Amino acid sequence: MVNPVRKGRVGAGIVKTSKREKLTRSAAPSSADEGRGKKRRFLRRAQDTEPLEVQDQSLPTASGVSNPRPSSRRVEKLTIAIDGPSGAGKSTVARSLARRLGYVYIDTGAMYRSLAFRVKEGGISPEDELALNPLALSLRIQFVTEGEQTRVLCEGEDISEAIRTPEISRLASSISKQKSVREALVRMQREMGKEGGVVLEGRDIGTVVFPDADVKFYLDAESDERIRRRYDEMVEKGVRVGLKETQEELLQRDHNDMHRTHSPLKRATDAVFIDSTHRTVEEVVEEMVRVIKERIKSDE
Ligand code: DC
Repeated sequence: MVNPVRKGRVGAGIVKTSKREKLTRSAAPSSADEGRGKKRRFLRRAQDTEPLEVQDQSLPTASGVSNPRPSSRRVEKLTIAIDGPSGAGKSTVARSLARRLGYVYIDTGAMYRSLAFRVKEGGISPEDELALNPLALSLRIQFVTEGEQTRVLCEGEDISEAIRTPEISRLASSISKQKSVREALVRMQREMGKEGGVVLEGRDIGTVVFPDADVKFYLDAESDERIRRRYDEMVEKGVRVGLKETQEELLQRDHNDMHRTHSPLKRATDAVFIDSTHRTVEEVVEEMVRVIKERIKSDE
């Protein structure tokens, strides 16, 4: 059972937020082996922005069993899917977009990571599907969003930092190839997003979890940039990690996530492709908002 908790949300509509976003990196290009002192900040503070003015409009009923919606639902309750590889900036962008829209942000990678954390704790092999299945089914995760931060609680325990280590990244990728694990977590994700008004990010949101999502994005960046971002993120968090190790981990994970049998990472045919390599988070979010507005207009 997963329960998104959003403190400070005003009703279920679109709200204006007064807090500034804490973002991640600089947009100018640089080689992956630059020292920490030289690193640019892709992560930077976005400007406060106006919310979308899209009240009281109806959309046609979406088809499909995964996320049935009543025809009377409002446009402010859209389902937005963001997929892409590690380090493309999905989390930062998705969080920022959700704040902009007054939506719930759902980090599905954190769910695989939480399960990986429990797998590690229980000394379970990532190949042992028989042991993984009940663990996945009994997983209790809460996302608690307060201001700029989203904390991840697993059975009430705050594991937000513990799930961001390279070891848990590898383990999450490894267990995510198991069919029964995916089925359990996808069910939770559909439950969380069924009312709409959500921004979900992951690897299979637009292809499997919500194939009828209202707007889909595929966010990517050049691999050197993605490696550098991931490395900077780890260093910032005080995780002791080398650039070479980060590179190997990220490329291996890309390979695993793109080539697994069940729900591999791929761009949905109707997803809007965005390359974040030389862009700030704010620029990417702006482009997404523009696409969403256009979509709303064309549905009117
Ligand atoms: O987005 P992330 O790096 O936190 O995800 C960690 C791993 O979880 C990723 O390598 C693959 C897996 N994952 C997945 O298989 N499907 C998703 N929707 C999200 C993450």
